[in-house]
Amino acid sequence: MDQNATSHTVPASCDFTVFGGTGDLALRKLLPALYHRDLEGQLPDDTRILGISRSDLDDDGWRAEVRNALTAFVAADDLDAVTVDRFLGRLRHLMLDAQRPDDWHRFHALLKERPRAEETVRVFYLAVAPSLFGDISRRLDEIGVVDERARVVLEKPIGHDLASAQAVNDAVGRVFAESQIFRIDHYLGKESVQNLLVTRFANAFLEPLWNSRWVDHVQITVAESLGVGERGGYYDQAGAMRDMVQNHLLQLLCLVAMEPPSHVGRETVRDEKLKVLQALKPMTPVDVDRDTVRGRYTAGLVDGEAVSSYVDDLAATDLQGSGSRTETFVAMRTEVQNWRWAGVPFYLRTGKRMDRRASEIVVVFKAPPHHMFPHSEGTTEPNRLHIQVQPDEGMRLHLTAKEPGPGGIRLRPVSLDLSYATAFEQRLPDAYERLLMDVIKGNPTLFMRRDEVEAAWTWVEPILTRWATSPDQPLRYPAGTSGPIAATTLLEREGRSWQESDQ
Ligand code: BG6
Repeated sequence: MDQNATSHTVPASCDFTVFGGTGDLALRKLLPALYHRDLEGQLPDDTRILGISRSDLDDDGWRAEVRNALTAFVAADDLDAVTVDRFLGRLRHLMLDAQRPDDWHRFHALLKERPRAEETVRVFYLAVAPSLFGDISRRLDEIGVVDERARVVLEKPIGHDLASAQAVNDAVGRVFAESQIFRIDHYLGKESVQNLLVTRFANAFLEPLWNSRWVDHVQITVAESLGVGERGGYYDQAGAMRDMVQNHLLQLLCLVAMEPPSHVGRETVRDEKLKVLQALKPMTPVDVDRDTVRGRYTAGLVDGEAVSSYVDDLAATDLQGSGSRTETFVAMRTEVQNWRWAGVPFYLRTGKRMDRRASEIVVVFKAPPHHMFPHSEGTTEPNRLHIQVQPDEGMRLHLTAKEPGPGGIRLRPVSLDLSYATAFEQRLPDAYERLLMDVIKGNPTLFMRRDEVEAAWTWVEPILTRWATSPDQPLRYPAGTSGPIAATTLLEREGRSWQESDQ
C-alpha cells in the first residue's frame, strides 16, 4: 500500500451501480449527490449509473422516479434542464432477484455490453441490508465482474456486534481486497468535519493547548429533532448506540483526539484514528452503570407540534414496540487513555426527538492558572472552542474581555465567530458528494478501514452486553427536550454542564 499517495485520478469511464436503487438512501442522497457532481462537470463523461432493485421498472420508469427525487431534494436553482437530461440519460435500471441466477446473468450482460467494458471502473454501492453484503459480493465474483479496478461501497451498520462485523468483513474480503472496500460513514464527508483536521493541524496556536494540561473536557453532541419515522424496523434492532455512537460519534471523537499524521495519506489518517479507538477506556459493567445513560422518547412537543412516543411511532409502521428495550438516546462519559489525554473526560450525547437538530463539538479549556482580577466585577467563563458541525456550520471561540468604560475592570464573556455561510459564500456540498467522488477516484482516506470498524465494536460491545443483561429499562424523556435528567447529572456530579450552542 502506498502510504504517500495523496492524489487520485478520475477514470475515463465508470459504471456506478447502486444496489437498492429505488430505496430512500439512493433517491434522497446518492442520486442527488451524483447529479451535483455532474452539474460541476466532475463525473467522467462516459459514466453510467445502474440502479438495481426488486421493483418492476424499466429504464424510463426509474428515470421518472429519479427525476421526482431530484425535484424534491435538489435546490430549484441547481436544477439545470440540460444537466438533468444528461444525468437521466446515464441511468439504467435492472430488476434483480438475488436468488435467480438468470437475473445475475442479465446484470453481467449489462456491464459487458458497453464500449470499453474492460477498462471501465466498476463501483458497486450496496445500499441494502448488511446481511446481503457477503452474498452480493459472492455473486459479483461468480459472474466475473470484479476486477482489480472494481470498488465496493458498504453502508453502515457493518454488523450488529463484533462477531457479525467480522463475518461481514470476511465475506466481502473473500472477493474484494481491503483497498477496494469503501466503508462509508457520511459524517466524514461533512465539510465542517473535514475542517476539524484543518483547524487543528493547519493553525499553530491550538495544538500546544490541545492536551490534558489545558483542556478540561470535551463534549460531542449529535442531537436530532426527528423521530424514527419509517425506519422503525431497522432502528428497533439497532438503537442509538449502534446507529450513531459506534460510528459517527466515535469518528468525531477520533478526529478531535488523534495525533497529527505526517501528511494526509490514504492510510496515515486512518492509522491515527485507529490508535484513538484502541486507547478508549474499556468499560466494565460498573463503569457502564455509572457512566452511561440510555433514554427513550415519550410523546411531546417538537417545534410546537405534538409528536408521538417511540412505541407509537413503531406501532404506526405496524411494529410491536411495547416489549422493546431499544434506546433512542445515549449520553456517556469516556476517556482516551494516552499521554495527551490522560484524565480528560470526553462526554458523548446523541438522541432522536430532542429539542433541536444540532451536531457540535465543544472543547472546554481549563481556567487560567492564576486569577489576576479578583476584585473585578462581571463574570468569567472557561474558554471554549465550539465547533458547529450542523446546521449553520461554523466555529466560535469563547473568551473573556474587559467591558469598555471607565471605573474599574468589569469582565464579560465574548465570542469570536466564524460562520461558513458568511465567510465562504458558496454552497456547502452534501457529505455524499465528496465521498462518492472519492470512491470513483479510488481515494479511501475518508472511509473506515476494517480494523477501525472492529476496534469500535470491541469498545462498544461490553456496553451493549451490560445493557442487554441489566434489569433497567431506558429512561423516559419527553420528545422535544434535551433527554433524561440523568444525562445532565452525568456532568453535574463532576461540576460540569452541557454547553448548548446558543450559550
Ligand atoms: C444515519 C443514521 O447514519 O445518520 C440516522 O442512521 C441519522 O438515524 C442520520 O438520522 C443523521 O445524519 P445527519 O447527516 O442528518 O446528521
